[in-house]
Amino acid sequence: MSRRILVTAALPYANGHIHLGHLVEYIQTDIWVRFQKLRGNTCRYFCADDTHGTAIMIRARQENRSEEELIAEMKEAHLADFTGFQIEFDNYGSTNSPENLEACKIIWKALRAAGLVSEKDVTQLFDPEAGTFLADRFVKGTCPKCGAVDQYGDNCEKCGATYSPGELIDPVSTLTGAKPEERTASHLFVNIEKLHDFLEEWTQSGEHLQKEVANYLKGHFLGEPLRDWDISRPAPYFGFEIPDAPGHYWYVWFDAPIGYIGSTWQWCKENNEGLSKYWQSSDTEIHHFIGKDITYFHTLFWPAMLKVAGFNLPTKVHIHGFLNVDGGKMSKSRGTFIMARTYLNHLDPACLRYYFA
Ligand code: MSP
Ligand code: ZN
Repeated sequence: MSRRILVTAALPYANGHIHLGHLVEYIQTDIWVRFQKLRGNTCRYFCADDTHGTAIMIRARQENRSEEELIAEMKEAHLADFTGFQIEFDNYGSTNSPENLEACKIIWKALRAAGLVSEKDVTQLFDPEAGTFLADRFVKGTCPKCGAVDQYGDNCEKCGATYSPGELIDPVSTLTGAKPEERTASHLFVNIEKLHDFLEEWTQSGEHLQKEVANYLKGHFLGEPLRDWDISRPAPYFGFEIPDAPGHYWYVWFDAPIGYIGSTWQWCKENNEGLSKYWQSSDTEIHHFIGKDITYFHTLFWPAMLKVAGFNLPTKVHIHGFLNVDGGKMSKSRGTFIMARTYLNHLDPACLRYYFA
């Protein structure tokens, strides 16, 4: 019997170009999708750009243009790279789309109705010059444990200590070089501990995750109460403002996985099909392909959100490791990457596809 299969690859951040590390994922997923299509199954491959967050907002400011203009340009570049590597999406959307906003509203309403949302004050470092709160990686300073200079706000690369950015000695904002100050703002939280039993059962059943992944979740998260998930950010933030909480924006990791639904929805509208056929039908399998660094978003928060809102749970989350450079992940932030475009300018894409296969 022919199967109906919805496939996704993680949504690449709009603030950087596609590199060979990313392609480990998009190529292997493309091969898997082509195989399913050849077998006669109905298989759709959906993806999108992940556009929200502080990084895009800051870059748009620095480049003196709107976030919308910046993300439109990046989407075009991403698509050109994917096309160059013969990756065929059924739809490539954006998390900044009307369909995604609609999907976010549906899921948010369900979380509220289930009584899972609460409000709490959070104290964070704030850059008075940029007028924005600073995520951990936007703060640098001297390690409070070993005294190494130039360390990020969450952990020391020299001695391995972890700490909060407020503990750094002589902290500076990497955005402006200003000395950050502590400020308090209210955030919204999702109480996912209420879904602990469900998540235990779903992750440990042996049906949806690789054994190593199930063990990792059990060892690192499920052995104790799950911490409330901080789901909002105060203005200024590039994202969707929360309809029933003005001044609060959904944190990028809330609307990013919902982008899988948003992208599907866009395709459905263009092809006269119903969204529920894909996301609310037991006849559809959902397969996510992701890298190991984003495991817990996809195996704890995401199934929790889907469960509460009455959407299909993932049939399988396929998790891969990294393409390494000198023993470390090829990465944009470390500057250890080769862009997809650079490869395409010199070599045949089929060779890389074959190599990864
Ligand atoms: N925007 C998030 C994903 C949101 S999904 C709802 C993100 N973006 S990313 O651009 O940083 O990474 C996209 C995918 O590429 C992730 O699955 C990530 O693991 C993968 N990879 C990024 N660098 C990689 C390697 N060096 N090797 C293999 N995969 C890599 O995370
Ligand atoms: Zn240190």
